[in-house]
Amino acid sequence: MNPVILGISGASGAIYGKEIFDRLVAAGVETQVIVTSTAEHILHTELGLSKEYFLNKPGAALLDNARFNVPAASGSFLTRGMVIVPCSMGCLGRIAGGISSDLVERVADVHLKERRKLIVVPRETPLSDIHMENMLRLSRAGAIMMPAMPAFTHHPKGVEDLAAFIAGRVFDHLGIFQDFMPRYAG
Ligand SMILES: Cc1cc2nc3c(=O)[nH]c(=O)nc-3n(C[C@H](O)[C@H](O)[C@H](O)COP(=O)(O)O)c2cc1C
Repeated sequence: MNPVILGISGASGAIYGKEIFDRLVAAGVETQVIVTSTAEHILHTELGLSKEYFLNKPGAALLDNARFNVPAASGSFLTRGMVIVPCSMGCLGRIAGGISSDLVERVADVHLKERRKLIVVPRETPLSDIHMENMLRLSRAGAIMMPAMPAFTHHPKGVEDLAAFIAGRVFDHLGIFQDFMPRYAG
Protein backbone atom coordinates (compact mmCIF):
# COMPACT_ATOMS: atom_id res chain seq x y z
CA MET A 1 0.00 0.00 0.00
CA ASN A 2 1.31 3.48 -0.85
CA PRO A 3 2.18 5.76 2.09
CA VAL A 4 0.29 8.75 3.47
CA ILE A 5 2.36 11.94 3.67
CA LEU A 6 1.67 13.86 6.88
CA GLY A 7 2.84 17.49 6.90
CA ILE A 8 2.83 19.32 10.24
CA SER A 9 3.26 23.07 9.84
CA GLY A 10 3.55 26.02 12.18
CA ALA A 11 -0.02 26.61 13.37
CA SER A 12 -1.36 26.08 16.85
CA GLY A 13 -3.04 22.69 17.22
CA ALA A 14 -0.08 20.29 17.16
CA ILE A 15 -2.37 17.81 18.89
CA TYR A 16 -4.29 17.36 15.63
CA GLY A 17 -1.13 16.23 13.84
CA LYS A 18 -0.10 13.91 16.68
CA GLU A 19 -3.57 12.39 16.92
CA ILE A 20 -3.69 11.60 13.20
CA PHE A 21 -0.13 10.23 13.26
CA ASP A 22 -0.88 7.95 16.23
CA ARG A 23 -4.03 6.66 14.57
CA LEU A 24 -2.30 6.05 11.21
CA VAL A 25 0.42 4.04 12.99
CA ALA A 26 -2.21 2.12 14.98
CA ALA A 27 -4.04 1.34 11.73
CA GLY A 28 -0.80 0.00 10.19
CA VAL A 29 -0.71 2.73 7.52
CA GLU A 30 2.76 3.57 6.22
CA THR A 31 3.29 7.27 6.99
CA GLN A 32 5.99 9.74 5.97
CA VAL A 33 6.08 12.78 8.26
CA ILE A 34 7.45 16.24 7.46
CA VAL A 35 7.65 18.83 10.27
CA THR A 36 8.39 22.52 9.55
CA SER A 37 10.77 24.41 11.84
CA THR A 38 7.96 26.50 13.39
CA ALA A 39 5.96 23.32 13.92
CA GLU A 40 8.92 21.88 15.84
CA HIS A 41 8.74 24.85 18.19
CA ILE A 42 4.95 24.52 18.60
CA LEU A 43 5.13 20.74 19.15
CA HIS A 44 7.45 21.45 22.04
CA THR A 45 5.41 24.36 23.44
CA GLU A 46 1.99 22.69 23.21
CA LEU A 47 2.79 19.00 23.76
CA GLY A 48 6.34 18.87 25.15
CA LEU A 49 7.39 16.74 22.14
CA SER A 50 10.30 16.92 19.73
CA LYS A 51 10.02 15.82 16.10
CA GLU A 52 11.87 12.63 17.07
CA TYR A 53 8.47 11.51 18.37
CA PHE A 54 7.71 10.58 14.75
CA LEU A 55 10.79 8.35 14.45
CA ASN A 56 11.01 4.65 15.22
CA LYS A 57 7.29 3.95 15.08
CA PRO A 58 6.20 0.97 12.96
CA GLY A 59 5.73 2.03 9.32
CA ALA A 60 6.72 5.65 10.01
CA ALA A 61 9.52 7.73 8.49
CA LEU A 62 10.55 11.31 9.28
CA LEU A 63 11.65 13.40 6.28
CA ASP A 64 13.89 16.48 6.52
CA ASN A 65 11.81 19.54 5.51
CA ALA A 66 14.95 21.24 4.11
CA ARG A 67 15.89 18.40 1.74
CA PHE A 68 14.14 18.02 -1.61
CA ASN A 69 16.06 15.01 -2.92
CA VAL A 70 13.64 12.40 -1.62
CA PRO A 71 11.14 10.28 -3.60
CA ALA A 72 8.11 12.13 -2.20
CA ALA A 73 9.27 15.35 -3.93
CA SER A 74 8.62 13.71 -7.31
CA GLY A 75 5.31 13.09 -9.06
CA SER A 76 6.58 9.62 -9.96
CA PHE A 77 6.33 8.60 -6.29
CA LEU A 78 2.87 7.20 -5.58
CA THR A 79 1.09 8.05 -2.36
CA ARG A 80 -2.28 7.46 -0.82
CA GLY A 81 -2.60 11.21 -0.34
CA MET A 82 -1.23 14.02 1.76
CA VAL A 83 -2.66 15.77 4.79
CA ILE A 84 -1.23 18.97 6.26
CA VAL A 85 -2.40 19.25 9.85
CA PRO A 86 -2.31 21.73 11.39
CA CYS A 87 -1.69 24.03 8.42
CA SER A 88 -0.57 27.60 9.07
CA MET A 89 -1.82 30.39 6.86
CA GLY A 90 1.80 31.04 5.89
CA CYS A 91 2.24 27.48 4.62
CA LEU A 92 -1.21 27.51 2.99
CA GLY A 93 -0.51 30.83 1.25
CA ARG A 94 2.82 29.60 -0.11
CA ILE A 95 1.18 26.43 -1.47
CA ALA A 96 -1.63 28.52 -3.01
CA GLY A 97 1.08 30.67 -4.63
CA GLY A 98 3.01 27.65 -5.95
CA ILE A 99 6.13 28.72 -4.02
CA SER A 100 7.41 25.26 -2.93
CA SER A 101 10.11 26.73 -0.68
CA ASP A 102 10.41 23.62 1.50
CA LEU A 103 9.56 19.92 1.27
CA VAL A 104 6.03 20.23 2.74
CA GLU A 105 5.14 22.85 0.14
CA ARG A 106 6.79 20.91 -2.71
CA VAL A 107 5.00 17.66 -1.84
CA ALA A 108 1.69 19.55 -1.60
CA ASP A 109 2.40 21.11 -5.00
CA VAL A 110 3.07 17.63 -6.41
CA HIS A 111 -0.26 16.37 -5.05
CA LEU A 112 -2.09 19.23 -6.74
CA LYS A 113 -0.37 18.82 -10.10
CA GLU A 114 -0.80 15.03 -10.05
CA ARG A 115 -4.46 15.48 -9.08
CA ARG A 116 -3.94 13.42 -5.93
CA LYS A 117 -5.68 13.86 -2.64
CA LEU A 118 -4.46 16.85 -0.61
CA ILE A 119 -6.25 17.53 2.66
CA VAL A 120 -5.44 20.86 4.29
CA VAL A 121 -6.44 21.47 7.91
CA PRO A 122 -5.88 25.19 8.54
CA ARG A 123 -6.10 26.79 11.97
CA GLU A 124 -6.35 30.52 12.34
CA THR A 125 -8.90 32.96 13.71
CA PRO A 126 -10.10 35.44 12.69
CA LEU A 127 -9.52 35.02 8.96
CA SER A 128 -8.41 37.84 6.68
CA ASP A 129 -9.59 38.26 3.09
CA ILE A 130 -6.14 37.03 2.03
CA HIS A 131 -6.52 33.80 4.07
CA MET A 132 -9.96 33.16 2.58
CA GLU A 133 -8.83 33.91 -0.97
CA ASN A 134 -5.91 31.51 -0.56
CA MET A 135 -8.23 28.80 0.78
CA LEU A 136 -10.60 29.28 -2.16
CA ARG A 137 -7.67 29.13 -4.56
CA LEU A 138 -6.45 25.84 -3.06
CA SER A 139 -9.94 24.38 -3.03
CA ARG A 140 -10.40 25.27 -6.69
CA ALA A 141 -7.04 23.62 -7.43
CA GLY A 142 -8.41 20.37 -5.97
CA ALA A 143 -7.42 20.45 -2.29
CA ILE A 144 -9.92 19.50 0.39
CA MET A 145 -10.18 22.33 2.88
CA MET A 146 -10.93 20.82 6.27
CA PRO A 147 -10.54 23.57 8.88
CA ALA A 148 -9.82 22.46 12.42
CA MET A 149 -13.47 22.96 13.43
CA PRO A 150 -14.46 19.92 15.48
CA ALA A 151 -18.17 19.30 16.05
CA PHE A 152 -19.67 18.81 19.48
CA THR A 153 -22.39 16.31 18.61
CA HIS A 154 -20.28 13.44 20.01
CA HIS A 155 -20.12 15.09 23.47
CA PRO A 156 -16.33 15.43 23.62
CA LYS A 157 -14.88 14.88 27.09
CA GLY A 158 -11.59 16.63 26.39
CA VAL A 159 -9.14 17.87 23.79
CA GLU A 160 -8.31 14.32 22.64
CA ASP A 161 -11.97 13.80 21.68
CA LEU A 162 -11.92 17.06 19.69
CA ALA A 163 -8.75 15.98 17.90
CA ALA A 164 -10.24 12.52 17.26
CA PHE A 165 -13.18 14.16 15.46
CA ILE A 166 -10.80 15.80 12.96
CA ALA A 167 -8.80 12.56 12.66
CA GLY A 168 -11.99 10.67 11.80
CA ARG A 169 -12.87 13.11 9.01
CA VAL A 170 -9.30 12.94 7.65
CA PHE A 171 -9.43 9.10 7.65
CA ASP A 172 -12.78 9.20 5.82
CA HIS A 173 -11.34 11.46 3.11
CA LEU A 174 -8.17 9.38 2.78
CA GLY A 175 -10.39 6.31 2.33
CA ILE A 176 -8.98 4.57 5.42
CA PHE A 177 -11.42 2.55 7.52
CA GLN A 178 -12.11 4.04 10.94
CA ASP A 179 -14.60 3.28 13.65
CA PHE A 180 -13.14 5.43 16.43
CA MET A 181 -15.54 8.28 15.64
CA PRO A 182 -19.20 7.30 15.94
CA ARG A 183 -21.27 8.39 12.91
CA TYR A 184 -24.34 10.52 13.41
CA ALA A 185 -27.23 8.10 13.40
CA GLY A 186 -30.09 10.57 13.32
C1 LIG B 1 3.58 29.91 18.83
C2 LIG B 1 3.11 30.19 17.43
C3 LIG B 1 1.81 29.90 17.09
C4 LIG B 1 1.35 30.14 15.81
N1 LIG B 1 0.05 29.83 15.50
C5 LIG B 1 -0.40 30.02 14.26
C6 LIG B 1 -1.72 29.62 13.92
O1 LIG B 1 -2.48 29.08 14.72
N2 LIG B 1 -2.12 29.79 12.64
C7 LIG B 1 -1.31 30.35 11.68
O2 LIG B 1 -1.76 30.46 10.54
N3 LIG B 1 -0.04 30.76 11.98
C8 LIG B 1 0.44 30.59 13.23
N4 LIG B 1 1.73 30.97 13.55
C9 LIG B 1 2.55 31.63 12.52
C10 LIG B 1 3.26 30.66 11.61
O3 LIG B 1 4.02 29.73 12.33
C11 LIG B 1 4.18 31.44 10.65
O4 LIG B 1 3.37 32.12 9.71
C12 LIG B 1 5.17 30.56 9.92
O5 LIG B 1 5.92 31.34 9.01
C13 LIG B 1 4.48 29.46 9.15
O6 LIG B 1 5.44 28.71 8.46
P1 LIG B 1 5.40 27.11 8.50
O7 LIG B 1 3.98 26.74 8.69
O8 LIG B 1 5.95 26.72 7.19
O9 LIG B 1 6.22 26.69 9.68
C14 LIG B 1 2.22 30.71 14.83
C15 LIG B 1 3.55 30.97 15.17
C16 LIG B 1 3.99 30.72 16.45
C17 LIG B 1 5.42 30.98 16.81
